[in-house]
Amino acid sequence: MKEKIESIKTECINLINQSINQAELDNVRVQYLGKKGELTVVLKEVGLLSAEERPLIGKIVNEVREEIELKIEEKKNALEKEEMMKQLENAYRFDFTIPEKENIGSLHPITIVQREVEEIFKSMGFNVEEGYEVETEYNNFEAVNVPSYHPARDMQDTFWLDNGQVLKTQTSASQNRILKKYGSPLKAIFPGRCFRNEDLDASHENTFFQLEGMMVDENISVANLIYFMKTMLSEVFKKDLNVRLRPGYFPFVEPGFELDISCMYCGGKGCRVCKHSGWIELCPCGIIHPNVLKMGGVDSEKYSGFAFGLGLSRLAMMKYGITDLRLLNSGDLRVLKQIKNN
Ligand code: DAH
Repeated sequence: MKEKIESIKTECINLINQSINQAELDNVRVQYLGKKGELTVVLKEVGLLSAEERPLIGKIVNEVREEIELKIEEKKNALEKEEMMKQLENAYRFDFTIPEKENIGSLHPITIVQREVEEIFKSMGFNVEEGYEVETEYNNFEAVNVPSYHPARDMQDTFWLDNGQVLKTQTSASQNRILKKYGSPLKAIFPGRCFRNEDLDASHENTFFQLEGMMVDENISVANLIYFMKTMLSEVFKKDLNVRLRPGYFPFVEPGFELDISCMYCGGKGCRVCKHSGWIELCPCGIIHPNVLKMGGVDSEKYSGFAFGLGLSRLAMMKYGITDLRLLNSGDLRVLKQIKNN
């Protein structure tokens, strides 16, 4: 009898180990522990044994039953865990052979150009700062040398808020905060969204992007300005570009300039894009006005600096050949699709 019980146990445990799913395991349970199961039958047979043998063998059968139940429970847990792992694996498996989805989305041209310019300036030691979209009148105007009576205020048709603040009309609005934050020496760029109450046309939008830059240190001159702008623009357009400065007026710089680049389409020979001049106007800039430095807490006797206000929207349009500024804010996915395919 003992051998019989032992062989049932071995057989049963083997089958438990071999079960590959819950259904098979259930079958094993029924086959051995069910009403007509092999071990149940043996237990019934125990009743026929002699009075001495009965408790002894009965105890063995019960112990084997408990052991088998435990093994079944363990196997059940193991199978459940295995199943869960399989599901997880399937959920996270990355199949490189599945073709790219059609509408996967892409970065906006302005974001692409902004990041590119940021990387270039970062590699030249500039910090990238963030500005606010709602600004104080002081930061947007006064601190960049445009007091309330200054005619230059008329050049920017401003959105005023009820509390007297403004939607930033220019990234120059962050100059004061950044001057106060770093003092001198300082090398920083600060991209941002700007707002003006413009009449809309192909080159005017109420919402557009600029990227402002400043460098302040001892002995900063126009030569530094030209060097950094030329290096950056040549990288953006992946061509060795020439730059030239023409006089321009902005209250926060003295002298102030309009920076042109040699036309990247015709190389300066003259074409439709550059209106046959060989040059394209790109970015106003200049030597920071001493008043702006002073209001930023920087000693204007000891330090000087340059500043520029790059039109990011304009740069993106030039880089991607977009002819209507309004397309950039239109949410028209066809614009993004073309960029992606470029
Ligand atoms: N803030 C000017 C604008 O939006 C652009 C500008 C001009 C920025 C000259 C500058 C600068 O930093 O030096 O019209």
